[in-house]
Amino acid sequence: MWLKGKRSILPLCGVAAGVLAVTLTGWGQTTAKENAKWSLRAPNGIHFGLIKGYEHWEVVAMHYRPDMKEMRYILGNPLAVQAYRQGIPQNGHNFPTGAILVKIGYSLKPIRSFPSAIEPNVLQRVEFMVRDPKFKSTGGWGFARFVYHPATKTYTPYGQNASFAQECFNCHAIVKNRDFVFTSYVPKG
Ligand code: HEC
Repeated sequence: MWLKGKRSILPLCGVAAGVLAVTLTGWGQTTAKENAKWSLRAPNGIHFGLIKGYEHWEVVAMHYRPDMKEMRYILGNPLAVQAYRQGIPQNGHNFPTGAILVKIGYSLKPIRSFPSAIEPNVLQRVEFMVRDPKFKSTGGWGFARFVYHPATKTYTPYGQNASFAQECFNCHAIVKNRDFVFTSYVPKG
């Protein structure tokens, strides 16, 4: 029994140290991946790090795309949420400089313990638009998209060159009268 003497405790200490080392290595890799993620840039120069902490931003709305079987969450930074609460964009005013809207898409799967209900499965991409007047050719919005690779838990910037943002903008131009924003704020009560 290991309780009987120091000699037999030692191997256990070794195992514990090994487990700790493996855990720390795993943690180190996760941190390295996190850091690598935030330093990525879209081809138009927009930094992923611009939205650091977005995971904690308020959910503005959820959208479901039946054709792609995908659930999307739209998150807003505090400035964007404040603007929504003031009635933007329906009231004809524009989002202020610094407002950011993030869209994250997920594939879906049934909830294992209750298969008639579905839940998000795998993250597909993180994309966002930031209000900055310097992006004149795209309605004063800077667009960026980062595609997620679940196997490696890494992201790659979308687009060959800076003109990718024109593709985003051309479609968002459908809602020119809403400051190029499709999403309406969904009240939670
Ligand atoms: C073919 C049309 C189309 C293209 C191209 C497109 N979007 Fe969108 N986008 C939409 C629609 C429709 C919504 C709202 C519904 C949804 O969430 O799917 C949306 C929502 C968004 C939102 C949430 C704010 C809002 O306007 O509702 C962001 C952020 C966004 N898109 C970023 C991008 C970026 C970045 C690109 C280019 C890399 C892009 N979009 C390209 C149609 C498009």
